[in-house]
Amino acid sequence: MRSAIVTGGAGGLGAGISARLSEAGYRVGVADLKRESAEPIASEIKNAVALEVDVTSEASVDAMLAEFGDVPDVLVNNAGIARFKPLMDQTAEDFQAVVNVNLVACFTVGRAAARGMAKRGSGVIINITSINGIVPASGVGAYPAAKAGLVSLTKNMAVEWGPLGIRVNSIAPGFIDSGMSAPFFKERAIREMRGGKVPVQRLGLAADIANAVAFLVSDEASYVSGHDLVVDGAITPSLLSHLPREVKDI
Ligand SMILES: NC(=O)c1ccc[n+]([C@@H]2O[C@H](COP(=O)([O-])OP(=O)(O)OC[C@H]3O[C@@H](n4cnc5c(N)ncnc54)[C@H](O)[C@@H]3O)[C@@H](O)[C@H]2O)c1
Repeated sequence: MRSAIVTGGAGGLGAGISARLSEAGYRVGVADLKRESAEPIASEIKNAVALEVDVTSEASVDAMLAEFGDVPDVLVNNAGIARFKPLMDQTAEDFQAVVNVNLVACFTVGRAAARGMAKRGSGVIINITSINGIVPASGVGAYPAAKAGLVSLTKNMAVEWGPLGIRVNSIAPGFIDSGMSAPFFKERAIREMRGGKVPVQRLGLAADIANAVAFLVSDEASYVSGHDLVVDGAITPSLLSHLPREVKDI
């Protein structure tokens, strides 16, 4: 049976990705900071196990991989944090913490898994980025910089590790009504306003991201590597449609 580890597996997107990979036939390691938070997710999913890991600690990552046993066929670097504050008010510690979890840890966890994958000659890594890695916003601190770095790291991993049999891609979620954004979308007016601005006319769901993961890890995607798959209902390219303009023949 193929196997997969999902970091941040107890969170909104991580739980959805874990469940979808289980449906696709994987044994899944639901890995999060506290085993107690991963356990309820793992217990609802077929062939899943709860794992405890702090992705910013190399020793903790090694212990988590040893506990899982197999070198996973799939690693989803999904753990992420945000410390939303204007840059003027952001401390260097806040900035560093966001970069550590969202970028540096994807390197260290990815490298640890890739060493085993390279020995076997196969593996797939997915890094979860964000549309904030493409378009920044006010008040979101280090988050866009960390995610933009992760897009670049993904391509670098794909280039270096492709010859070792490892494909590496990233997924950039847009406005997702789950996980760290769920509190923001609690208010009906904000849900409707934001959802209505998205060209496909709705907010995204954890399942939309999980389905993208399922495609990218599948054999149908065997020639896709080094790609940042934007799953945002086309909000990112819709900039100009938010500026009034009279359409005329010119
Ligand atoms: N929800 C969205 O709208 C959205 C949009 C774009 C990108 N993302 C990205 O999707 C990913 C998942 O986010 P989410 O929305 O599910 O948020 P979430 O807060 O629900 O989940 C994140 C998970 O990561 C875990 N985590 C944090 N630090 C960790 C560490 N040091 N070690 C191990 N686990 C750690 C948390 O405990 C949590 O369970 C993140 O990378 C996030 O940046 C989310």
